[in-house]
Amino acid sequence: AKILVLHGPNLNLLGEREPGIYGRATLAQIDAALATRAAEAGHQLDSFQSNAEHVLVDRVQAARRDGTAFILINPAAFTHTSVALRDALAAVALPFIEVHLSNPHAREPFRQHSYFSSLAAGVICGFGADSYGYALEAAIRRLRADDG
Ligand code: DQA
Repeated sequence: AKILVLHGPNLNLLGEREPGIYGRATLAQIDAALATRAAEAGHQLDSFQSNAEHVLVDRVQAARRDGTAFILINPAAFTHTSVALRDALAAVALPFIEVHLSNPHAREPFRQHSYFSSLAAGVICGFGADSYGYALEAAIRRLRADDG
């Protein structure tokens, strides 16, 4: 099946951006590891990053027609602000897992509300780059269960 990984604003800077919070892995390294693991499990993984809310909304809308079966999304700062991106996910009605490198619950109060969690199949946060890996394993299991 097709799995779409979406990364929100500033995640293009992973590796250099506040490494004490977000780790040393770059986005390219994270995406490459996810693509390898997905292929191993017989799936195809497409990754997409944007700093722009409307570009992410457009990409989610496109997922309705491109055969995407499951979405992993780290909405980054849009987690705490974007009704539009939440609405896009509700509109396409595809299952998704919300992913965060850090544990937003252990950080500033403004990070403790997510517009996505109540719509997500699940939320994985606090494990650095491994958060994405765990989310992918969960997606693979869910897709296997759907098959049969
Ligand atoms: C983040 C947490 C958000 O609060 C923050 O705005 C990010 C990254 C994470 O992966 O830990 O940009 O989503």
